[in-house]
Amino acid sequence: MSDLFSDSEIDTIQENDLSRIGVSLPASLLNSFDKILKTRGYSSRSEGIRDAIRSYIRYYKWMGELTGERQGVITIVYDHHQRGLIAAITDIQHDYMGLIQASLHSHVSHTRCVEVLLVRGGVHEVKEVAERLMAQKGVETVKLTTIPLEG
Ligand code: NI
Repeated sequence: MSDLFSDSEIDTIQENDLSRIGVSLPASLLNSFDKILKTRGYSSRSEGIRDAIRSYIRYYKWMGELTGERQGVITIVYDHHQRGLIAAITDIQHDYMGLIQASLHSHVSHTRCVEVLLVRGGVHEVKEVAERLMAQKGVETVKLTTIPLEG
């Protein structure tokens, strides 16, 4: 992952190196984000977005550095009203049936579901299934945590 910044570089990207971007977001997403910024005491939305992007880069860097066999947990939150999404999520799980040891589903609200997958196997496959789930339209979040088998 040589194209990514190191942790210290992520933290010290200079303010005079600013680029301006325009982003379209669903109002509900921006609302939730603004609420967090307010709670956490951010002075500006830009600073909050910079921090969120830093976390995102760190997360991907961390995923890229994982190696070997791992026990893992994948948590997916999604909108079950999204057309075709449940079938897509099920198809993906069947593609990795040797990897997925168990799954747990709970209905969060009228529209949202949470699914927890217990996985065990090579880290490349573990990340692959998490990334495929993340790429589906209607999936709100996918979180992966892993534990090395040796330790
Ligand atoms: Ni549900």
